Amino acid sequence: MLTIALSKGRILEQTLPLLAAAGIVPAEDPEASRKLVLETSRDDVRLVIVRASDVPTYVAHGGADLGVAGKDVLLEHGGQGLYEPLDLRIARCRLMVAGPPGAAMDRRRLRVATKFVNITRRHFAARGRQVELIKLYGSMELAPLVGLADCIVDLVDTGGTLRANGLEPLEHIADISSRLVANKASMKIKHRRVQPLLQRLREAVAAAA
Ligand code: ADP
Ligand code: PRP
Ligand code: MG
Repeated sequence: MLTIALSKGRILEQTLPLLAAAGIVPAEDPEASRKLVLETSRDDVRLVIVRASDVPTYVAHGGADLGVAGKDVLLEHGGQGLYEPLDLRIARCRLMVAGPPGAAMDRRRLRVATKFVNITRRHFAARGRQVELIKLYGSMELAPLVGLADCIVDLVDTGGTLRANGLEPLEHIADISSRLVANKASMKIKHRRVQPLLQRLREAVAAAA
């Protein structure tokens, strides 16, 4: 049995066509179902539904053999115990520092609100800047508006969310897309199942380009 961890929302939406190209179709609509384990058209493949930020944990610990996770999530997690065999080129966006126009970025101790505390610490440390991290779980764009932080580190796609809240992108941290991740032991032990699937996904990604 091969278990693949996915999260509801844009990852599921954009991964399902790639899985379909590899002959894997869920037995019921994952967005509609309350089930967390879903059978597929292949009796040796099942999907498990987890939070986006939990995908690396499930895969690293063998709760799933494969998974799909944003590079942002992988950078934040650290990627220990994981292989990252394929860039699926879906859910593309940028990880950025953003703030109000003319944000006082030269403050001695910058207050940065984000859910990506590890990435943020590393980004500023590499520039020799010590920052005060304010850990949030969402709606980061609100923090500068209410004086909770000087700036934020968040994902930006169209820039619409920043604009709607009077913020602007300040520094680019990384280009983001979702990656297929694999448990290291599964890559060896389930090699005969994983390799053909990997090959078909690679072809589906190339065809979508
Ligand atoms: P969450 O509930 O954790 O926010 P999402 O489904 O919104 O989960 O995000 C999953 C992944 O999709 C993120 O880790 C990121 O890589 C990517 N992503 C997030 N927001 C966007 C966006 N606005 N446009 C494109 N990709 C995005
Ligand atoms: C993501 C991200 C930004 C927004 C950026 O939020 O956290 O807020 O998209 O996209 P944009 O530049 O096109 O506006 P998401 O839609 O995932 O909502 P969430 O708060 O539920 O994660
Ligand atoms: Mg989101």
